[in-house]
Amino acid sequence: MSLVVDNIGLLVTNDESLGEGPLGLLRDAALVIEDGLVAAVERAGAAADERIDAEGRCVIPGFVDSHTHLVFAGDRGDEFAARMAGAPYAAGGIRVTTDATRAASTEELARLAAARRDEALRAGITHLEIKSGYGLDVETERRCCEVAARFTDDVTFLGAHVVPADTTPDDYVALVIGDMLAACAPLARWIDVFCEEGAFDADQSRAVLEAGRAAGLGLRVHGNQLGPGPGVRLAVELGAASVDHCTYLTDADVDALAAGDTVATFLPATDFSTRQPYPDARRVIDAGAPVAIATNCNPGSSYTTSMAFCLALAVRDMRMTTDEALLAATKGGARALRRTDVGHLAPGARADLAILDAPSYSHLVYRPGVPLVAATLVGGR
Ligand code: NIG
Repeated sequence: MSLVVDNIGLLVTNDESLGEGPLGLLRDAALVIEDGLVAAVERAGAAADERIDAEGRCVIPGFVDSHTHLVFAGDRGDEFAARMAGAPYAAGGIRVTTDATRAASTEELARLAAARRDEALRAGITHLEIKSGYGLDVETERRCCEVAARFTDDVTFLGAHVVPADTTPDDYVALVIGDMLAACAPLARWIDVFCEEGAFDADQSRAVLEAGRAAGLGLRVHGNQLGPGPGVRLAVELGAASVDHCTYLTDADVDALAAGDTVATFLPATDFSTRQPYPDARRVIDAGAPVAIATNCNPGSSYTTSMAFCLALAVRDMRMTTDEALLAATKGGARALRRTDVGHLAPGARADLAILDAPSYSHLVYRPGVPLVAATLVGGR
């Protein structure tokens, strides 16, 4: 059975060989889908067994959200309110969610994660990465990875999120790289560490990442979120796929990103929600480093599944162009996950797309706060 999404007013393919500019733009186009993949990009009016009429709307590749923490229980709305009243954001809030997550059953965690995943889908996110990191003991971290694996093949083991209150940093790192890694690695594709003052220092982060790599996992790093630090340079040195946050960058960090292959992933909804400065995206992009934008959906620092909101912040407050922001949230996210099957709509790609209730993707930024995703297809469904 073939399906055509026909009568597309403006199609973003993210493939320069198919259309205009880096977004590979085509007007009056049709996407033919077979077996869940893009089979052809044609002029409007293409034939297939089934037809969706886009009625002249804009179609974009589905957002690839390369940084989420969807598996958790509990609520931190009061912490957010206190922050808005002047309290600072601190990594220690993670422990509040940890208590609630440990107390929740696996099925309850799965129910909560499914609701957030569905919300993300309605917001146009067709592929996402999900981290553990609110268990911080062997069994709860394993349960969180198991739940995450029900929703994505990009599961990240983040046992090294913060040191639990009842242990020492050295003992906890030994647990993370020992029994916890052994329990979680079979369920995960990635390992991550929160390399930050108040979480894990450079040596501890290196130990976690090297152990993860030895267990066959790819590397990701939370770095330079709350202040300057070693996270970005460590990520580049170890060949991590992505270093996320990048809010406080020195010249040496930017040089390292430009010389390496690690994607700088910006999480602007976090800087919004923690009242931090925004990353200097222009400096990173102009230096030639690869970038992505992700939601960082989590209960503490960024409780949103709205990639469109992240794009609006990136354009208004980080001085990215709308085109750069859209690319960063689609193809950039795919690169941050080292995937070529998602984030674009060239023949052979997974048929993951969003039909916007708008004539152009620029409306995602131009009409902030308005839910513009009319429909999403994942694997052509
Ligand atoms: O990416 N930085 C570390 N982890 C999350 C925050 C988690 C929390 O506050 O619960 C983040 O922002």
